[in-house]
Amino acid sequence: MTQALDAGVFAALSPEARLNGVVEATGLSDASAAQLREPSNLAPDVANHMIENMISTIAIPVGVATGMIVDGRERLVPLAIEETSIVGFVSDAAARCRATGGFSTSMSGTVMIAQVQVLGVANPHAARLEILAREEEIRAICDGCDSVLLEHGGGFRGLEVRLVESSQGMMLVLHLLVDTRDAMGANTVNTMAERLAPRIGEWTKGTVLLRILSNLADRRLARARAAWRVEDIGGAQVRDAMVSASALAASDPYRAATNNKGIMNGISAVVLATGNDTRAVEAGAHAFAAREGSYRSLSHWEVDPEGNLSGAIELPMAVGTVGGATRAHPTARALLELTQVSGAEELARVIAAVGLAQNFAALHALCTDGIQKGHMARHAANVAIEAGATGPEVEAVVAAMAKRGTISASAAREALRSHREEA
Ligand code: MEV
Repeated sequence: MTQALDAGVFAALSPEARLNGVVEATGLSDASAAQLREPSNLAPDVANHMIENMISTIAIPVGVATGMIVDGRERLVPLAIEETSIVGFVSDAAARCRATGGFSTSMSGTVMIAQVQVLGVANPHAARLEILAREEEIRAICDGCDSVLLEHGGGFRGLEVRLVESSQGMMLVLHLLVDTRDAMGANTVNTMAERLAPRIGEWTKGTVLLRILSNLADRRLARARAAWRVEDIGGAQVRDAMVSASALAASDPYRAATNNKGIMNGISAVVLATGNDTRAVEAGAHAFAAREGSYRSLSHWEVDPEGNLSGAIELPMAVGTVGGATRAHPTARALLELTQVSGAEELARVIAAVGLAQNFAALHALCTDGIQKGHMARHAANVAIEAGATGPEVEAVVAAMAKRGTISASAAREALRSHREEA
């Protein structure tokens, strides 16, 4: 059972001490703890099997967001990300909504969609009904592809047949709805679509072209909501400003894109840390944000009857806890263990909560100090490192730049030169 780690104390620890704290709080296995203790932790032979033409690996920092209560349970959430502020943002948002019980989440299910595109169908309306009438035959073909999935309670759940007007005329598009349970499910549903395709060609007397999943996984929606008391966010003025800021994201695609980018800062970082497909989740999120014809915010902010700031988010979340890199990548496997989720659904729900937390913290910063204050403080360390500072020099250079009131490459070089001269 995860214990609450004091956010302030945790942040002030060394990376090694933080990891020890996380291991203790989560009861992480020795193998996973050892994996996380080794920063260059992807062996070349494992990496070489993951992609083609592998020449190297790139290390990205992994931080742990503290203080999250999700559905009444304490969570430590790993985020793999190169951007400063993001892990701190999630922890800050989580700390500020603990008084109201943290995040409540739900999920619409774990159903993925595979598309089969059929061209040249002479009588598409009749062909549509022909396919719909063969649902049981289709079920048998699809369920015949993956006995393990059936053993785990997944499998074919239904079909839809759409007639899509295109620049090349009417196309028939079959959707297979498949519950992929704890797998993200791309391979499963693609196999079903490919196996079924020849029969669809016969039944429709058309030509089957694409047989591939849809990343608009709108049968796999993760939802999270939370409320923040005004006294925990700096007062009613801040609350109202955050609602006004979010109203712009609800109406203006220029702001919605930035708002959703902030949400994805948190979401993609957990997706990456757990070895899931960041591009799939991002494509799904942005397509869902545009589902009504114009691109909108993925989150909504309003004032609840108690006067709290109330936030809600809903988006497709095609992530798994089995298959792919979630198990093949040893660090992802260890980080997945650290999340203590029981399966894909719980992981998706925690990730949605992280997205909402991230959005809260970004809006809060934007409506109070502005984003640069916190960002630049952390950015200064990167600038110092770029200028060549190492070890304790980094803090010395950051302090010198803060004293001078300028954070820049030249100020960092100058500060480093004087620090070394004095030393
Ligand atoms: C920066 O990576 C993300 C923000 O721009 C998000 C937002 O504006 O809501 C701060």
